[in-house]
Amino acid sequence: MPATVVTGSSRGIGKATALRFAADGYDVAVNYRSSEDAAERVAEEIRDRGREAIVVGADVSDSDDAARLVDAAADAFGGVDHVVNNAGIDQHVHTESLEPADFDRIMDVNVNSAFAVTKAALPHLRASEDNPSVTNVSSILAHTGAAIECHYASSKGALLSLTRSHARDFAPDVRVNAVAPGHVETDMTSDRTAEERRDELAAIPVDRYGRPEDIAEAIAYLRDATFVTGETLNVNGGERMG
Ligand SMILES: NC(=O)c1ccc[n+]([C@@H]2O[C@H](COP(=O)([O-])OP(=O)(O)OC[C@H]3O[C@@H](n4cnc5c(N)ncnc54)[C@H](OP(=O)(O)O)[C@@H]3O)[C@@H](O)[C@H]2O)c1
Repeated sequence: MPATVVTGSSRGIGKATALRFAADGYDVAVNYRSSEDAAERVAEEIRDRGREAIVVGADVSDSDDAARLVDAAADAFGGVDHVVNNAGIDQHVHTESLEPADFDRIMDVNVNSAFAVTKAALPHLRASEDNPSVTNVSSILAHTGAAIECHYASSKGALLSLTRSHARDFAPDVRVNAVAPGHVETDMTSDRTAEERRDELAAIPVDRYGRPEDIAEAIAYLRDATFVTGETLNVNGGERMG
């Protein structure tokens, strides 16, 4: 059976993606940094769907932890056919108050992790005969920038460059794509005031926030689309077109 590693799959978009992959016939390595119980529940849901799951606590911003995650998946499933670099954090702060260490932390978790996990997985992906690919989870803010989270927006922009670079580097063996979500209802966006939600919704033509499953669907498409590599799929309800 094909197997996938989904970083940050205890909650939100990563959880929905792990469950989608299981529904599509993949065994899944569920990864978390601190939410062990939630990750175990995701694994139980995967097993209920008839697929295998392992749970690996690993801070993927640490390259040793990233390699340990990939090794655990390869050992458990006999290989790795797909990687979803989803783990991410954000922080709302203007540049005047932004500490260099906070900038570095965001880059470590959002970008360096994708490099480390992909590098560790590459030998397994190259050995896969199951349409291997990597999908990186970027953001609409990679395109627009963000006044109160320049480090987050920069990290998501860097992910798009990493995506195109790896797509060229690994071709024709392994495809690499990115998904760039708009506003999605998860813990990451749960701190919005009613006024902020009204303003955000006014900018979304389909008149709703994204659901984690909307992003999982796009990731599943990129996983299966054998003629698509180096591409960014924007999934944002029309908030940014083109
Ligand atoms: N929600 C949105 O509107 C939105 C929009 C655009 C892009 N995105 C991107 O989509 C991805 C998922 O976001 P989300 O909204 O689903 O976030 P979320 O609900 O806050 O979940 C974040 C996930 O990442 C994990 N994680 C964080 N740091 C980690 C680390 N160092 N090592 C391993 N796992 C780590 C968390 O694990 P724990 O549970 O253990 O903490 C959790 O599973 C992120 O890359 C985010 O930037 C989100």
